[in-house]
Amino acid sequence: MDRAAIQAIKERLDIVDIVRRYVELKPVSGRWMGLCPFHNEKTPSMSVNSEEGFFYCFGCQASGDIFDFYANINGLEFKDALEQLAAEAGVELTPGKVDPGAAKRSSERKIFMEMHELAAKYFARMLKLPEGRTARKYLERRGLASSVIDSFGLGCSTDDWQGLEKFLISKGYTADQGVKAGLLSQNTKGRTYDRFRGRLIFPIKNLSGRVIAFGGRVITDGEPKYLNSSDTPIYKKGDHLYGLSTARNSIARTKHALLTEGYMDVISLHQFGYTNSCGVLGTALTPDQVKRLSGFCSKVDLVFDGDSAGVKAALRSSEMILTQGVSCGVIVLPDGEDVDSILQARGAEGFQVFMDQARDGLDFALATLQQGFSPRELMDWAQGFLKKMSSASLRAFYLPKVASGLGMAEAELRSVFSSALSSPVQPQKQPVRKAVPQSAGPVGAQVKDDKYFLRYAVKHPEYVAELSERGIAQVLTSHWGKKLWSLITAHSGQDIMSFLDDSEKRFYASCRMEEALSGSELEDEWRHVCRVIARRRYDTGRKKLTDALRRAQAEGDMGRVSAYLKVLNDSVWRDDEQH
Ligand code: CTP
Ligand code: MN
Repeated sequence: MDRAAIQAIKERLDIVDIVRRYVELKPVSGRWMGLCPFHNEKTPSMSVNSEEGFFYCFGCQASGDIFDFYANINGLEFKDALEQLAAEAGVELTPGKVDPGAAKRSSERKIFMEMHELAAKYFARMLKLPEGRTARKYLERRGLASSVIDSFGLGCSTDDWQGLEKFLISKGYTADQGVKAGLLSQNTKGRTYDRFRGRLIFPIKNLSGRVIAFGGRVITDGEPKYLNSSDTPIYKKGDHLYGLSTARNSIARTKHALLTEGYMDVISLHQFGYTNSCGVLGTALTPDQVKRLSGFCSKVDLVFDGDSAGVKAALRSSEMILTQGVSCGVIVLPDGEDVDSILQARGAEGFQVFMDQARDGLDFALATLQQGFSPRELMDWAQGFLKKMSSASLRAFYLPKVASGLGMAEAELRSVFSSALSSPVQPQKQPVRKAVPQSAGPVGAQVKDDKYFLRYAVKHPEYVAELSERGIAQVLTSHWGKKLWSLITAHSGQDIMSFLDDSEKRFYASCRMEEALSGSELEDEWRHVCRVIARRRYDTGRKKLTDALRRAQAEGDMGRVSAYLKVLNDSVWRDDEQH
């Protein structure tokens, strides 16, 4: 990355000026506020910080620097945003590093997005025209409200083989571009035609709400039941979740998402008030999709069909969610029913009955596996499950639970897998928690604990050096926290935003948006931070000593035993001594 250019662009362009092109900003008690363009809202919750060069939405947690804003709002990749803003700021990017194909790819992506936007409008208009009568009747029969038909931008395509093609050409695009964008197909003779014909059309949007692909359902009979866009430069299957841009706000607010399988299911859920719902769409849930979701929520409830395919999908999905450190609940519907059929037949109240019976994700997985698996297969599964954990602390958290779920002693499971589990990530020590309140699981709790210290550092950068001297680095327990701390110490006061990933940006921006403490409040908080750090370091030190003592005892080394005992007895926690 061209750091110097990034810096230079940020010095020359004011993020407020850029944001203003898209959003009306008003000064509200010393900050710039406007309607967030990344989710639907009626009262402004996006704040833009001109001096520090970032934006943050209190509603959906969208955040980042000038490049993030520009890229997201225009559906560009970072590189493209950099190039365009560089041109605008008159900053020259280091030559040689520029990928010759990049400009071409970038303008191609832009064109494909425009084509999708137009195609979505075309399909939506068809639904309103006489040609869309069959589709309209179909939607009516399925009980879809016009509110969700509009908010999801549903449309239809007619049986015409050249309808969209002609439309796109009339707008100045070529048939070849239509094929590359995945909107048209081409036969072996080179003849081009509409890919989606005689179908109900579901636009698939990215997180910024831009249409990037389509799903099409047959209206009458035909095969395949659903035809989806194939992969294109702007869409990759398994990267996106259906409905997430619409559900985002609600998910961020409730920290809870419903994940189901079908287009119709997602839309019905929204119609019946479950606005935090999104869909996986016929593929296995991917780690990327879970990461996308876990950006704004801590719990995902899976709602799957009760047939064997549904149970299998629920099993794989819950495994995926749990190994990524997100809480998971599972709702398996009665065989033969799906979300949409239940909602339509029994309403939200009838559906809620099933929601209330959600099972814990791990319990569900273990119980399901125990039904059809041999002991050997079970052990293989458990080993695979624990190995797939995205961190060692998560593995430490799940090992005893898996053991008890399988009716084994924890030590037994540990010894069975000791070789398999000694993979790169080493188990971490359990965090010592005293002064900071605990939360759900150890991983979430570790990050939460770390956030307590990091929030102070971000809000009060003048304390970074002293926090460092007091040994905050030894006190942070999560990988997330340690990484962010090292970035803070390396880039504090400079353009730190450019070095942060999405979740770090969200956290950093939200802290900077909080009012900094001052006066006696600041002093009190500082004393508390210092005390917690000191206490943790003390506890960790003692833990090391008691471990060493235990080892010495086991080895019968009485000399070392008494030496450790003496040190332990001498080290007494004295609160007042620490500062
Ligand atoms: N699917 C797909 N391709 C298919 C069949 C299904 O991509 N040929 C995906 C679609 O995303 C679909 C989901 O899998 O929404 C679930 O399929 P299914 O249960 O068969 O359809 P429903 O969503 O229930 O659709 P409907 O209620 O209209 O029958
Ligand atoms: Mn269905």
